Amino acid sequence: MYIGLDLGTSGLKGVLIDAEQRVVAEATAPLTVSRPAEGFSEQAPADWIGAAEAVMDRLAAAGLGELRGIGLSGQMHGSVLLDDSDQVLRPCILWNDSRAHAEAAAMDGDPAFRAISGNIVFPGFTAPKLAWVAKHEPDIRARVAKVLLPKDYLRLWLTGEHVSDMSDAAGTAWFDTAKRDWSDDLLAATGLDRSHMPSLVEGSAVSGHVRDVLADRWGLPKGVVVAGGGGDNAASGVGVGVVRAGEAFVSLGTSGVLFAANDGYQPDPATAVHTFCHALPNTWHQMGVILAATDALNWYARLVGAEAAVLTGELGPLQAPGKTVFLPYLGGERTPLNSASVRGAFTGLEHATDRAAATRAVLEGVTFAIRDSRDALAATGTQLQQLLAVGGGTRSDYWLRLIATALDVPVQLPVAGDFGGAFGAARLALMAATGAGAEIATLPQIERVVEPDRSLKDAMDAGHARFRAAQMQLKDL
Ligand code: XUL
Repeated sequence: MYIGLDLGTSGLKGVLIDAEQRVVAEATAPLTVSRPAEGFSEQAPADWIGAAEAVMDRLAAAGLGELRGIGLSGQMHGSVLLDDSDQVLRPCILWNDSRAHAEAAAMDGDPAFRAISGNIVFPGFTAPKLAWVAKHEPDIRARVAKVLLPKDYLRLWLTGEHVSDMSDAAGTAWFDTAKRDWSDDLLAATGLDRSHMPSLVEGSAVSGHVRDVLADRWGLPKGVVVAGGGGDNAASGVGVGVVRAGEAFVSLGTSGVLFAANDGYQPDPATAVHTFCHALPNTWHQMGVILAATDALNWYARLVGAEAAVLTGELGPLQAPGKTVFLPYLGGERTPLNSASVRGAFTGLEHATDRAAATRAVLEGVTFAIRDSRDALAATGTQLQQLLAVGGGTRSDYWLRLIATALDVPVQLPVAGDFGGAFGAARLALMAATGAGAEIATLPQIERVVEPDRSLKDAMDAGHARFRAAQMQLKDL
């Protein structure tokens, strides 16, 4: 049996699978984000451990005497700063925190960062956060002995080892993404060296073993391996079997991600597409990332005082976009705008705009932002023939039909079950424990395929054009 733990932004999820990859048990524990100032987004690493303990205690009720491996997946880019006794120095600054925008722009102005890492230095990436801490919290910066990514802090607790994997490390801006290794030059540019970094393994390799004290607590056999695992998007790719060139998925989670697997390394930072290592050896992936997907819908649901599922449930058949346009840039945007300062908007409101029209505009705004990522991927030469859909947003049938139609691709919905980061992490655990490879990362059984509604194609193109016009007018406001 194998466990995958996915440290998300809104919760930590664990799945237990058997040797045939059947899900035997699953558990989740919620997490909250603290926003102490405009553009700030933080979590306390101690809360992650609390959530992981709660999830593991619940999975242990299923009986873990046959467990062979644990895999880790997690929200990317966060900075866990540790002193020389592995004590946490400050709350983790998360992937959707934009405070380090000036530091990111300065780093991005040094051509070495794009050339070596293959990516724009976005404000949410790890390196500019260290520069921000150096400037604003010099006492803390002086005590930093190790910088870990969120899931790798869970690993430290599970195994006692400082280790990361290639896919997550590629999102730090300190990584040589072609060579799959830390870049001494990029680390030096931030006043760091390899001693501040965890060692590296591939996602499907062994990174350590569960500590005896935890093994005893959950009734595990001795020597359970912990796999390298992956950043949540790469781990989701393994979970849905998107590991070969030509395969792609859309993830509607807190963030929105359009993810394509590649055989080789083909960076194109100018497009604001992210190019990272995949969680399997010798594979890479590209993705467009929007910062608020279900985050935008949940924000709107809180505003109008209704459940998101109630709002999307009252929409009826798919409609052509109306006059109301929503820009989902609640905390800035990555692909394609690379802007920490852009903010969201509703435009085209009129007397006739009712709650359903506003809900449709929110879903359309997120969908058109994902269509922008589709166009950015296309500019790098990556075409999408079809898309698997994962994440909480896929519970809305209206949203799936909208995505299929606005992106003009069939959208495949896996059979009920979770094929996200936790399942992918469990697969990586299976690989690490048994030596299996990409062949076990099969595509899921498809429950149904949502076809584009071709009668709305022109209306969607016009809606996207209106969205782009609003974006261009408002992005510098
Ligand atoms: C990817 C990114 C987000 C987080 C969310 O670059 O920032 O998808 O990983 O968990």
